[in-house]
Amino acid sequence: MLNPEHSACPVHADFDPLSPAFLADPFAVLDSLPRDTPVFYAPAIDYYVVTRYDDIEAVFLDHETYSAAPAQLPLVQLVPEAAQILLAGGHKPQPSMVSLDPPAHTRLRSPTARAFTPRRVAQMEPRIRATVHQLLDAIDPFAPFDLVSTLTFPLPATIIFSFVGIPARDWPQLKEWCGHRASLAWGRPTPGEQVQHAENMAAYRRYLRDLVATKAHARDDDFASALLVIHDEDPEALTHEEIASILYSLTFAGHETTNYLIGNVVRRLLEDPARWDAVVADPALIPGAVDETLRYDPSVPVWRRVTRRPVTLGGVDLPAGAKLFLWLAASGRDASVFPEPEAFDPRRANAAKTLAFGKGIHYCVGAALGRLEAQIALEALTHRFPQLRLVEGQDLSFHPNISFRGPQALWVRAAQDVSLS
Ligand code: HEM
Repeated sequence: MLNPEHSACPVHADFDPLSPAFLADPFAVLDSLPRDTPVFYAPAIDYYVVTRYDDIEAVFLDHETYSAAPAQLPLVQLVPEAAQILLAGGHKPQPSMVSLDPPAHTRLRSPTARAFTPRRVAQMEPRIRATVHQLLDAIDPFAPFDLVSTLTFPLPATIIFSFVGIPARDWPQLKEWCGHRASLAWGRPTPGEQVQHAENMAAYRRYLRDLVATKAHARDDDFASALLVIHDEDPEALTHEEIASILYSLTFAGHETTNYLIGNVVRRLLEDPARWDAVVADPALIPGAVDETLRYDPSVPVWRRVTRRPVTLGGVDLPAGAKLFLWLAASGRDASVFPEPEAFDPRRANAAKTLAFGKGIHYCVGAALGRLEAQIALEALTHRFPQLRLVEGQDLSFHPNISFRGPQALWVRAAQDVSLS
């Protein structure tokens, strides 16, 4: 554990982002913190917590000083058995693009950007619309329903897996593997759970390597095949193993992030029905409502970095090797950038300044796709269910991890006279 004593670093011994109180309401914890400690050390996780917009932005923009290495690092020290299973399964300590620094990062990011063309994203629009309507058609509007299991969870999974080129029969398995991945890297699993998660992740990696090998001989109009075309041009510049690693990035990053984004948008609008009614009356507010949610309650509330050299951040001297917990959700409540940050306002002029997608060389590859899915989902919901309301008295629950946040279930009713039976 790092010893922060040599610096003038404030310490908040009670800060634990996996505590029940934090998981239930991280913004209440934020409000309870002293305003004059924008960077502090949290011994419960051995991280320095960074809360201010300008400091987080500066970290994202300086990849020479701040390495992305811990982005997917398990928060807990893994037991040797779990670590061994991961290594044997080809899962390296920096397992994919988002935790690599240049030049290794560039090797993966450049072909990803080439294959992830605006044309390919635009082509997804009719598929997103069709999938949203198909999922909503299956709902009985005369009974309360859980919006997560009916729409927000299946929609992004369907979109990203079909975009990548995963056969539909394997989608349920992929979804399960993604759950193991979230718990292992961003949660606090017991030793027994770690071994189980590691076995599943080794299987997940194996599956993607096999998929690339199969697709090499049976191309389609999908993202995996587009990467194989780039491989054909120069096999040394992008190997099959690297293609599998890129697919490992996208199959996960395109899924829970967007599930939780849509859940958070609907939750925050319905929390105050006047917000919902305003969007119903004026659908032009939809893009603003999505961006405002990304500022106010982002689905990726935390991202991580580590210092490569001693540096001063937010007035605090940090040693080399200091692990940083970049609290993106706190940056969205920074009044110096977003006036009256506690007010949820779909008309906010600068909501798109949110750091919810990161910034700099790792800026989210799927930001446009994620926004598009959320906007189309909200368009369809407000059009079909203008009187949508939250079912009263429900307690929202959140998956116990630090980086992906949205309701696990969100019970709503489409008409005024239905009740939870
Ligand atoms: C909609 C909600 C989403 C949010 C809030 C989100 C957030 C983020 C964040 C915070 C990062 C790290 C940025 C950094 O380190 O500077 C990131 C990176 C990334 N995201 Fe997203 N993401 C979302 C959706 C998606 C989707 C739909 C995809 C896939 C199509 C995707 C693919 C990626 C990839 C591949 C990276 C790594 C980029 C790199 O390392 O160069 N994300 N995202």
